[in-house]
Amino acid sequence: MDKNTKPVERKGFGSRIGFILAAAGSAVGLGNIWRFPYLAAKYGGGFFLLIYLILAVTFGFTLMLTEVAIGRRTGKSVLGAYRAVDKHFGFMGWMAAIIPAIILPYYCVIGGWVLKYMTLFVTGQGTVANQPVASADGSSITFFESLIGNSATPTLFFIIYVVLNAVVILLGVQKGIEKVSKILMPVLFILIVGIAIYTLTLPGALDGAAYYLLPNFEDFSAEKLFKTVAAASSQLFYSMSIAMGILVTYGSYMRKEDSLEGSVRKIEIFDTAVAFLAGLIIIPSVFAFSGGDAASLNKGPGLMFISLPQVFESMPLGDFIGAAFFILVSLAALTSSISLMETVVAAVMEKFRLSRVKAVIVVIVITLMLGMLSVLGYADWSEVKIFGMQFLDFFDFITNSVMMPILALLTCVLIGYIVKTKYIEEEVLYGERKFGARALYRIMIMYVCPVCMAMILVTPFITEI
Ligand code: PHE
Repeated sequence: MDKNTKPVERKGFGSRIGFILAAAGSAVGLGNIWRFPYLAAKYGGGFFLLIYLILAVTFGFTLMLTEVAIGRRTGKSVLGAYRAVDKHFGFMGWMAAIIPAIILPYYCVIGGWVLKYMTLFVTGQGTVANQPVASADGSSITFFESLIGNSATPTLFFIIYVVLNAVVILLGVQKGIEKVSKILMPVLFILIVGIAIYTLTLPGALDGAAYYLLPNFEDFSAEKLFKTVAAASSQLFYSMSIAMGILVTYGSYMRKEDSLEGSVRKIEIFDTAVAFLAGLIIIPSVFAFSGGDAASLNKGPGLMFISLPQVFESMPLGDFIGAAFFILVSLAALTSSISLMETVVAAVMEKFRLSRVKAVIVVIVITLMLGMLSVLGYADWSEVKIFGMQFLDFFDFITNSVMMPILALLTCVLIGYIVKTKYIEEEVLYGERKFGARALYRIMIMYVCPVCMAMILVTPFITEI
């Protein structure tokens, strides 16, 4: 058997517990709760939301379905799957394996921030997160800024987070984690709904809700449309774990008798609902606590960490609810980063013929090295910029806005023009009477998706000029 196509031993991740759960555990994570709200805030609220929703049901659906179908049809992990579709496209498997290796380190850095907040709330010190701190030059900065501006604490929590991941992967207790998340995911969902309702009762919050829900077409321009589509699609990749082999891998574990179309729809809806609700908490709360100052929406990656503790402090039982919230978010993050790490570990095992333990060690070393760049980029090395970005933002950009669109574009070419859409359609129709979205699927994969991908890829260059 060819070494690249040998099925990888994967301690049953996703195999027995059912596909939807495993994929939803990977999909729902920091992307939904941390990344989506700050992008929505930055790109005009309602306008971004509208574009995101349109993209989710059209091209998010198309790409997710494609990857899962490739996985199920070939029955292979990412390294072998693309080759099995067409022998000239095997390199895509490698691209798909490198992407999670770049995302994992910075994901763990943010996971570390979440752990720090969780510790604060669990030890009853949640209000500390709202107290301004005096910076070195005497000015006052937020707790969050002072936290990430000093590398010591973020490094510590980053390492703890990485070790937690590694332990889970080594123990092979993914099944346990999945069982736990079967209970925790619904609890997280209910908690988010509850917090969202509470937030909307705060004075001024409804203006925030209006900003978030109602698209504003007043300052509409082609440039704004381009930028928003680019940002929304990069978010879509991130949030749905698209274009990095994870869904291909999970698809290979999926049972033939389950409906592909139906399962993909469910994951998509759940993932989007969590993101939507996170936005409905964070954006209105920023309005409520800043007295409607829209500039405070531009806090970028820190938005969740700055606005949520304020909500909790204002709330009855806020310490308790804050603690519960950050525990659940940590677990949601963990199920996502485990899927990232598992993909990288499996690729390293397969390529270098290493044992699981050795592969995990290799991955930990790489993750710690790359992750430290992200930690230091916000602290001691804050003058160091790559293309004007800090390390963390750069890693985020290079994967979500460059490598993933390229991989997705190649997937469209492969399916739309080389093996043709019947390759996917046959798999979707296996044991099913119909493929409801077939016409949409064809148009998307052959025309719309490639054009959107090209747009994402050129936008940064256009806006530079
Ligand atoms: N989809 C996850 C989230 O929303 C992040 C993730 C990205 C997980 C890529 C796996 C792969 O947080």
